[in-house]
Amino acid sequence: MMCRQYYEVMVSLDHRLGNCLAVARGKKVFNIAEDDEGKFMMKNILVLTGSPRLGGNCDLAANAFIKGATGAGHQVYRFDAGRKRISGCMACERCWEQGKACVIDDDFNELAELIPKADMIVYISPLYYSDVSGQMKCAVDRFYSYSTGKAPNPEKIKESMLILCGETELGTDFTGVTKVYKNMIGYKGWKNRGVLCIGRVSDKGDILKTECMEKIEDMGRNA
Ligand SMILES: Cc1cc2nc3c(=O)[nH]c(=O)nc-3n(C[C@H](O)[C@H](O)[C@H](O)COP(=O)(O)O)c2cc1C
Repeated sequence: MMCRQYYEVMVSLDHRLGNCLAVARGKKVFNIAEDDEGKFMMKNILVLTGSPRLGGNCDLAANAFIKGATGAGHQVYRFDAGRKRISGCMACERCWEQGKACVIDDDFNELAELIPKADMIVYISPLYYSDVSGQMKCAVDRFYSYSTGKAPNPEKIKESMLILCGETELGTDFTGVTKVYKNMIGYKGWKNRGVLCIGRVSDKGDILKTECMEKIEDMGRNA
């Protein structure tokens, strides 16, 4: 299996690129959505968002990504962690002991059911104090139940993307999160398929005034 397009991060500090501080650079490599005979292969994509704001920039980014991905024929599962109740991992090592991923009785168990379905995961988060939102971080940490090797239906994610929204004008404000993302997917053995850092978006809907919506839809189309 091969990949159609591989997006690379390019952080621009001089703002010539407008709001897309890190642009999706379409570099043709090979096509993961096709089998060896060139036939389209549908992917199951888990879109995990981290903002609590309905109609906010991450929500709109997720809609654009999903439009592109479903339009291309992929199956998308969306989970809005920002509007769910998910606490952090307790490191109790009791994953899968009560017939579910986690003994904590919260909305993670809903997300846990989507994880083994996914071939790819797309993280979409606002920048909160130079990091992802707390809700996103809690959800990510709770994936631990799938790292224990005890899951009856193991995780089979192979690829990931990251989309960030922040009010900052500085590309460097995104580097902490992108570094952590790269470290995490290196540990997981996932292939990075793209990072898009969208600056100068603050109020709900600001992203609609940027050139990024089309790029995000394209990331979905080329997932
Ligand atoms: C608690 C909080 C912390 C924030 N911290 C940052 C930050 O460190 N850097 C930044 O660029 N924007 C920061 N912002 C602005 C948001 O990242 C920005 O408004 C983003 O577009 C929100 O995404 P949303 O519209 O999907 O909710 C912060 C916003 C909130 C509510």
